[in-house]
Amino acid sequence: MLANLGALKRSQIVSMAIATLSEHDVRLQLRSWPEVEAYLQSCKGVIIPLGSTEQHGPTGAIGTDTLTAEAVAREVAQRSGVLVTPAQAFGMAEHHLGFAGTMSLQPSTLLAVMRDLVVSLARHGFERIYVINGHGGNIATSKAAFSEAYGRAAALGLPAAAGLRCKLANWFMAGPVMAKARQLYGDKEGHHATPSEIALTLHLHPGLAAKLRPLPDPGPPGPIAGPADFRRRHPDGRMGSDPSLASAAAGSILLELAATALTEDLKRFLQD
Ligand code: NI
Repeated sequence: MLANLGALKRSQIVSMAIATLSEHDVRLQLRSWPEVEAYLQSCKGVIIPLGSTEQHGPTGAIGTDTLTAEAVAREVAQRSGVLVTPAQAFGMAEHHLGFAGTMSLQPSTLLAVMRDLVVSLARHGFERIYVINGHGGNIATSKAAFSEAYGRAAALGLPAAAGLRCKLANWFMAGPVMAKARQLYGDKEGHHATPSEIALTLHLHPGLAAKLRPLPDPGPPGPIAGPADFRRRHPDGRMGSDPSLASAAAGSILLELAATALTEDLKRFLQD
């Protein structure tokens, strides 16, 4: 990325060095295509943040899963120097459709979207696709999409096909994140609208704290089928969680833990 340093004046070098630390450098949205082409000469890795737009209980932001995945992804990108794409903000949230504001892709739609995004990147020579995910409902479909992408890339005869690898990294399931959540919230972490994910949104958008209020005991988390069953079993949208325990300070700690764990994981993945 800093290949032509010899041609630059000292003042330009200093300003570039400062810019290197900014997130603008690692956001695909802010790069030009020649810059991406140059980047590929030294790194074949790229990060895709994957979220969901779905209800997060009576006090949580609809965008929680996308906000959190994108924040972790940008932090990992800055620490690793690996490009990060725009977030895929819509996920497989069919079971949340009983609550207003949820926007879902059916599994087959998400599968096609993720497959096409991976194949687009592979066409340019990207070989290590690292998906940082914020929503459990995306896991099965993303893995199926990777399988289709490998087949499609090979069928198209893409030079990157032989070396193409995709990995799903669920930030909320990173060992240190789960351990911290257990320590902070115990069994009030629950399965959905968890205080740990809500804490991260409070760190990112402090104004969201105004929505928090004490909530009744959510009852135990349980299996759910479709949207009507979810609403019947968990009428306020939470699943075994107490998001009122969330704080921005805890969110900052969880972001640090997630970014550290996933940056290490990404480095191993790039070397594989
Ligand atoms: Ni969530």
